[in-house]
Amino acid sequence: MNASPPSLPPPAALEVDDLTVVYGGSVRALDDVSLRVPGGAVVALLGANGAGKSTLLRAISGTLPLHGGSVRRGTVAFGGMPLTGRPAADVVAAGVVQVPEGRRVFTALSVEENLRAGQLGPGRHGRAAYRETLEQVHSLFPVLAERRRQAAGLLSGGEQQMLALGRALMSRPRLLLLDEPSLGLAPQVVEQIAGIVRRIHERGVGVLLVEQNAALALRLADDAYVLEVGRVRLSGRSEELSRSDEVRRLYLGERPDEDGDEGGGPEAGAVTVAAGPRTLGRWAG
Ligand SMILES: Nc1ncnc2c1ncn2[C@@H]1O[C@H](COP(=O)(O)OP(=O)(O)O)[C@@H](O)[C@H]1O
Ligand SMILES: [Mg+2]
Repeated sequence: MNASPPSLPPPAALEVDDLTVVYGGSVRALDDVSLRVPGGAVVALLGANGAGKSTLLRAISGTLPLHGGSVRRGTVAFGGMPLTGRPAADVVAAGVVQVPEGRRVFTALSVEENLRAGQLGPGRHGRAAYRETLEQVHSLFPVLAERRRQAAGLLSGGEQQMLALGRALMSRPRLLLLDEPSLGLAPQVVEQIAGIVRRIHERGVGVLLVEQNAALALRLADDAYVLEVGRVRLSGRSEELSRSDEVRRLYLGERPDEDGDEGGGPEAGAVTVAAGPRTLGRWAG
């Protein structure tokens, strides 16, 4: 295949323990959430709108303060290094990089300038490393090489998502936090993004993938978690969760009783089901 990647530190595990997050000092958005991304694994985070998926990514990436949120309780660690409450720049330096919702790129800058903005502090890895990383990003996303001098604002939605991903990869992350990368993209582009997540994973980079498209996420991920109103409702291996009645009914749009269900209810296999569902809606803490 392609040239071997520049040497990366070994994959490291992300550990989130008993995390409680509030906005505006009182509105609780996450309650006692624990989650693990084993080193180099792809883990999917599913859940309805407002469940707290973006909040969890923000709590990990240190960007909660930008949204008026704060960690009330619990810890985040990566490779054993505590990250709870650390500034976003420290989290990036530790190798954990978020691609936020809405494929934000600098529209007035060129594609290449956007990519350059993604590298860690100037000279951190040197010019040769910069070129090598850029080549890799170009090999993953040939369109970013073809359009390197164009303003990012002229790219299609799918190309902007690729640019947002490519920019994150310029910092040589060990764990990527992806917030709904397929949102609003055409099916063909979604498949392309899925292929890219796979190739990122093959390079030993871990991925925590937030997706509305549960079928896609469960296909890509080793493990998955389902958030419901700020709490972990279900968790387990992706293939086990794909077979659970609850996931099939709520997230895969299937009626398990209608098409030869093999008895894979949420209790089956290695799926962990948390205590009873709560009432939906906002709840203050
Ligand atoms: N900046 C914010 N200020 C106040 N409340 C917020 C903010 N962002 C999100 N919330 C609330 O936190 C909860 C979780 O939101 P979010 O993490 O965006 O969910 P998801 O990404 O799963 O759709 C929701 O009730 C939402 O209204
Ligand atoms: Mg969200």
